Amino acid sequence: MKDASIALYVHLAWCTVKCPYCDFNSYAARGRLAEHSYVDALLADLDNELRRAEDVLEIGSVFIGGGTPSLFSGAEVSASCIVSGADS
Ligand SMILES: C[S@@+](CC[C@H](N)C(=O)[O-])C[C@H]1O[C@@H](n2cnc3c(N)ncnc32)[C@H](O)[C@@H]1O
Ligand code: SF4
Repeated sequence: MKDASIALYVHLAWCTVKCPYCDFNSYAARGRLAEHSYVDALLADLDNELRRAEDVLEIGSVFIGGGTPSLFSGAEVSASCIVSGADS
């Protein structure tokens, strides 16, 4: 039994265009997105964070935001969710 629950935010930062008013951390996609590499990097970062805190934390919810997350393929988005939940 773990002691505390965290909410995980997954940021998928690319959009078709960058809207001129937008202050968010988002970027116009230029060509093909390196989505596989990006998801791998997110998972490595998550793994590192969870290893440091594995005795006290569990992931209670996952929110995927952007950017425009629908630019990513379903497979890559699923991978980020499935792997993040694999140890729970
Ligand atoms: C960051 S966007 C992410 C989701 C999606 N890309 C979209 O535009 O709906 C979320 C919302 O923030 C709004 N937004 C972006 N820049 C803003 C700003 N400077 N001030 C207020 N709202 C902003 C957008 O219009 C959008 O409704
Ligand atoms: S995150 Fe939304 S508001 Fe910002 S550039 Fe992308 S589509 Fe436009």
